[in-house]
Amino acid sequence: MRVLLLGGTGNLGSCLLTTLNGRGHTVVTLVRNPSKLTSHPQRHSIQVEEGDAKKAADIRDIARRHQCDAIVNAAGHAAMAPWGKSDLPAIVDAVIQAALELGQERHTPMRVWFLGGQGILDIPTLPNKMIADYIPMFLEHATTWKKLQELPPSAIAWSILCPGLMRPAVGESLVYKLSGESTSPPGWSTKFLRIPVLGPYMNIMSQISSYATSFEMNADFIATDLEKGRDSEWLLHKVGVKQIRK
Ligand SMILES: NC(=O)c1ccc[n+]([C@@H]2O[C@H](COP(=O)([O-])OP(=O)(O)OC[C@H]3O[C@@H](n4cnc5c(N)ncnc54)[C@H](OP(=O)(O)O)[C@@H]3O)[C@@H](O)[C@H]2O)c1
Repeated sequence: MRVLLLGGTGNLGSCLLTTLNGRGHTVVTLVRNPSKLTSHPQRHSIQVEEGDAKKAADIRDIARRHQCDAIVNAAGHAAMAPWGKSDLPAIVDAVIQAALELGQERHTPMRVWFLGGQGILDIPTLPNKMIADYIPMFLEHATTWKKLQELPPSAIAWSILCPGLMRPAVGESLVYKLSGESTSPPGWSTKFLRIPVLGPYMNIMSQISSYATSFEMNADFIATDLEKGRDSEWLLHKVGVKQIRK
């Protein structure tokens, strides 16, 4: 696929550059400061465009010029505290707007991967309750989720990846692989949920740390999925991930 990656200078974005390229995708990245990629190992085989991910016209024009089939948004970073603010909501608005315009031009919905966080995943057995309803951090991901749900189903071929804490890989790719699940974190235990009031907090706090994953594995998850095109099982889904033994 020809992929437009937003945010190729970030932690996840720079892994995506390597992995998308390694898996045979043609990669164009929109970055604010191209000089940050001068020493990236894949610099010679990717195309770098200067732009602002908050501007729908920048995204649309670059995707149009390079005839990109898919967009991956790794630009922006959700604010941590409940009252914090970042550029992520403006970036998501711009990506949605650009994808809608490109889809209308081509008469087919644009394939787009968004990034969310584990907080927007559902807790099994608790109807309509997300993890962030109890631990209200990185709430801008919930705003992204709401915007995606409000889109007509045929407008954008979106998926949203919802990892827990991500960190650089330390050799685990030899031992572990990433398992994905729609709607809830894979293998989420329902322990403590029957305890009134405190149960959901105990449920979350007792297992959330086991959902840390590496930037490299998440990049691989997206790159592998893009090979499936419209046959992806994650179309119009929020997707939780967990490292499991190979
Ligand atoms: N890191 C985690 O543990 C974690 C866990 C769950 C979910 N997430 C989510 O995953 C996503 C990626 O996280 P990350 O850790 O890779 O973030 P990051 O390292 O902070 O990277 C953010 C990227 O966004 C770019 N950016 C920001 N505003 C931009 C703009 N207006 N135009 C173009 N590029 C812009 C930055 O470019 P510059 O280099 O120019 O600043 C940088 O490349 C975020 O949505 C984050 O909330 C992260």
